Amino acid sequence: MKKWYAVIGDPIAQSMSPIMHDTWFQENGIDASYIPIHVEANHLEDAVDSLKRLGCSGWNVTVPHKSAIIPFLDQVDEEARQMNAVNTVKVLDDGTLFGTNTDGRGFVRSLQETGTTPEEVGELLIIGAGGAAAGISYALESAGFSPIAVTNRTIEKAKQMSKSITGSYAIQVDDAQSEISKFGLIVQTTSVGMNFAQSGFPLDPNGISEGATVADIIYNPLETEFLRRAREAGGKTMNGIGMFVHQGALAFELWTGVYPDTKKMIYSITTELGGK
Ligand code: ATR
Repeated sequence: MKKWYAVIGDPIAQSMSPIMHDTWFQENGIDASYIPIHVEANHLEDAVDSLKRLGCSGWNVTVPHKSAIIPFLDQVDEEARQMNAVNTVKVLDDGTLFGTNTDGRGFVRSLQETGTTPEEVGELLIIGAGGAAAGISYALESAGFSPIAVTNRTIEKAKQMSKSITGSYAIQVDDAQSEISKFGLIVQTTSVGMNFAQSGFPLDPNGISEGATVADIIYNPLETEFLRRAREAGGKTMNGIGMFVHQGALAFELWTGVYPDTKKMIYSITTELGGK
């Protein structure tokens, strides 16, 4: 029987996941399809139940259900637990639901694709202490990137997060700013990279060391204000497309056993969003 997969969220119409996964199914000769499903928060439990009953083999989870779905799953792995968020569900052979989170590992894969190594990076800085920051820090630490400084508007959250990630510590925003030249990698994980000027977000990439890698997890717009400033300050910049494509590729691999072509996909999404 033809397999089918889905992505659930609210809103969902803008999601690029269906076209991405359908392209990969075609490229790999897999007879399956992937559909977007609009699920409102108060219908999440019913939606999970229906997906199971209708024979869905696995699905992605996006805003606002990433944490809320956890109680409806049978198991979640360490990565998802760290992030308190699930972005990928697989229906196992016995019908139970397994949840993981491929966002952090997706970020690390996209970083590795640019040839960036832990040795070259040395000390790194994570801006933000939400779920995305936790997943990325956890995956970076697992891939050998350390030490990890975590800065956040609310420093208590940075302290809390660094307790659960080996090799990480919290740093006040002002201190991170004055020591910015010591970081070989800076990762912006908050929603404010988008409209830097209006938000008055405290960290300015001016003063980074020449050639430092500066990443923003946002990919639309392709270049956030934060990334533009980092580029002008001499940084090697990386937007969130690589992370998006690799988180999808890791989900695809979990479902099908195949790691799909990410380079071609990154290129076509970049073009679609108006970049080169
Ligand atoms: P996600 O799961 O996507 O990471 P989240 O858990 O809501 O989202 O985390 C949002 C992050 O963006 C937090 O680090 C938050 O900082 P606070 O912990 O101080 O709230 C950060 N953030 C959001 N809006 C911000 C703003 N205007 N200025 C600075 N940081 C902001």
